[in-house]
Amino acid sequence: MIECEYDRTNVEHTCEQELVDFSMVKLRPFREDEVVKVAAMHCDIFPEYFLSHLGQSFMALFYREFVDNGQSCGYVAEYNGELIGFVAGTEQSLLFLHQLYKRNFMRLALLVMYGLLTDQVVRHNIRKRSAHLRFAWRALWKSNRSEDGPPKGLSSPSCSVLAIGVKPQFRRLGIAEKLLSEFSTHIHQKGVQKISLTVLPENTGAIAFYRKCGWHQESHSATSIKYCNNMSINEKS
Ligand SMILES: CC(C)(COP(=O)(O)OP(=O)(O)OC[C@H]1O[C@@H](n2cnc3c(N)ncnc32)[C@H](O)[C@@H]1OP(=O)(O)O)[C@@H](O)C(=O)NCCC(=O)NCCS
Repeated sequence: MIECEYDRTNVEHTCEQELVDFSMVKLRPFREDEVVKVAAMHCDIFPEYFLSHLGQSFMALFYREFVDNGQSCGYVAEYNGELIGFVAGTEQSLLFLHQLYKRNFMRLALLVMYGLLTDQVVRHNIRKRSAHLRFAWRALWKSNRSEDGPPKGLSSPSCSVLAIGVKPQFRRLGIAEKLLSEFSTHIHQKGVQKISLTVLPENTGAIAFYRKCGWHQESHSATSIKYCNNMSINEKS
């Protein structure tokens, strides 16, 4: 178990009536028996997002892929036995998607069909995911992921943070910063120099957070901003 070495160790902080003893916050990789809780946290933290509308069962299959996986990993922050935040990412985003779709194709397909029948957000946005649907279909049949082009929204097979979130009552306490740092250290120790992520342009809180963590904007489109943390550049400067 990795414990946080918070600068603000033992400082009590009031955040929406929560008193948080930072020495009690622990970071560790999440376990298989916790993927449902992480999925539930994801859906609570990102209620408007397309993937959340596909439901907790869909998200649990997604987060299961980070457990015991040599190239992908996920950490949770735990406080008094409660999971209060998480980060998940992969060294190889295309391989991650290929494996996710290949291993879970039938279950994911059924959950998408259920979403199409029951959820307007899924119905309205499914066309924008057509590249993912094609990628998933090809992943089912092909063992060689290099034959597949990247789905839209994942422009290159890069090392990426795929999700990070902290429960609202535990925000602005340094928890996401520690989660991101833990993930980045793990990835950099494996020899990967550059980590990327994308954020919605309207998500100003997250953008301020990535800037505060020293990440640099790499590209910008109408629908997303790409940030990166490049260790080789950081080391030189
Ligand atoms: C973005 C998020 C993960 C930040 O988590 P957090 O635990 O509150 O972040 P931290 O406490 O580690 O923040 C560290 C610093 O980042 C900056 N920061 C974080 N959130 C910020 C916000 N909403 N507005 C402005 N600056 C912010 C601050 O400089 C902060 O330091 P300070 O509190 O001493 O000023 C959290 O707000 C969240 O879960 N948001 C919803 C999910 C989301 O949008 N995830 C990102 C998707 S790309």
